[in-house]
Amino acid sequence: MALLELTGIGKNFGGLAALGGVDLTVEEGEILGLIGPNGAGKTTLFNVISGVLPPSAGRIVYDGTDITRWSLHRIARHGLVRTFQQTELFMEMTVLENVLVSARAHSGLSFRRMSGREAAGRMSVHEIIELVGLSDLTDERAENLPHGHRRALGIALALAAAPSLLLLDEPLTGMDAGETEAMVSTIERIRARNTTVMLVEHNMRAVMRCCDRIAVLDFGKLIAEGPPQRIQNDPRVIDAYLGADEDIHGIEQAPA
Ligand SMILES: Nc1ncnc2c1ncn2[C@@H]1O[C@H](COP(=O)(O)OP(=O)(O)O)[C@@H](O)[C@H]1O
Ligand SMILES: [Mg+2]
Repeated sequence: MALLELTGIGKNFGGLAALGGVDLTVEEGEILGLIGPNGAGKTTLFNVISGVLPPSAGRIVYDGTDITRWSLHRIARHGLVRTFQQTELFMEMTVLENVLVSARAHSGLSFRRMSGREAAGRMSVHEIIELVGLSDLTDERAENLPHGHRRALGIALALAAAPSLLLLDEPLTGMDAGETEAMVSTIERIRARNTTVMLVEHNMRAVMRCCDRIAVLDFGKLIAEGPPQRIQNDPRVIDAYLGADEDIHGIEQAPA
């Protein structure tokens, strides 16, 4: 059984059909990439799946339960958690305090009891911090972190909700090569800890490297879906997104 099953998902904004009947399944344990040009509906699909916006049409079944029209918080409590393109951190707090606050918000445990293994459900707060590569910065305030580490901390906050399915919206935006490398490793470690990942990302090199499967959105419709090798050679995808005369292996950033 698929972990997430989307059937006929539509989303209208006034006269605009941002999503026009999306059918897609996410299998447990995979990293599924979602790509497509700007305005294709990727963020809207994340908003609909995670309960930020209700769909105009269609059905969302997560882990065997129909969650269509559930609230963001109820969905998150059931283990489907998203990050936003711009993460909200507690800037004046340390890395550790940020993760503790998030873990507390998602567990209902008291702050004082939140030091050890019980804190974050399946992973302890310290395991989460180590997984995102911030172990040496546990006591650093968020406001002092460079961009890449701030994004890593944003992912740690999402992990503190103990997700089974994590939706990452453009986690590599604005990162240099070293930060990108570190984040790709983090995403692979997250999957290795049995969290399924759905990844929206413009960095094609990273997407092709870490995704098991890729789905392509164009004008709110899925135009292709399959393993990276097939996607990068699919004429419809090249036409809609990748650029017919571009060598995909050389693309760092898709056209803005
Ligand atoms: N809250 C909103 N209200 C009105 N239009 C929106 C809203 N969110 C997104 N859109 C529109 O829906 C389309 C898809 O946007 P989006 O999902 O952000 O695309 P992507 O993330 O693929 O770049 C765009 O035309 C965008 O302008
Ligand atoms: Mg977007």
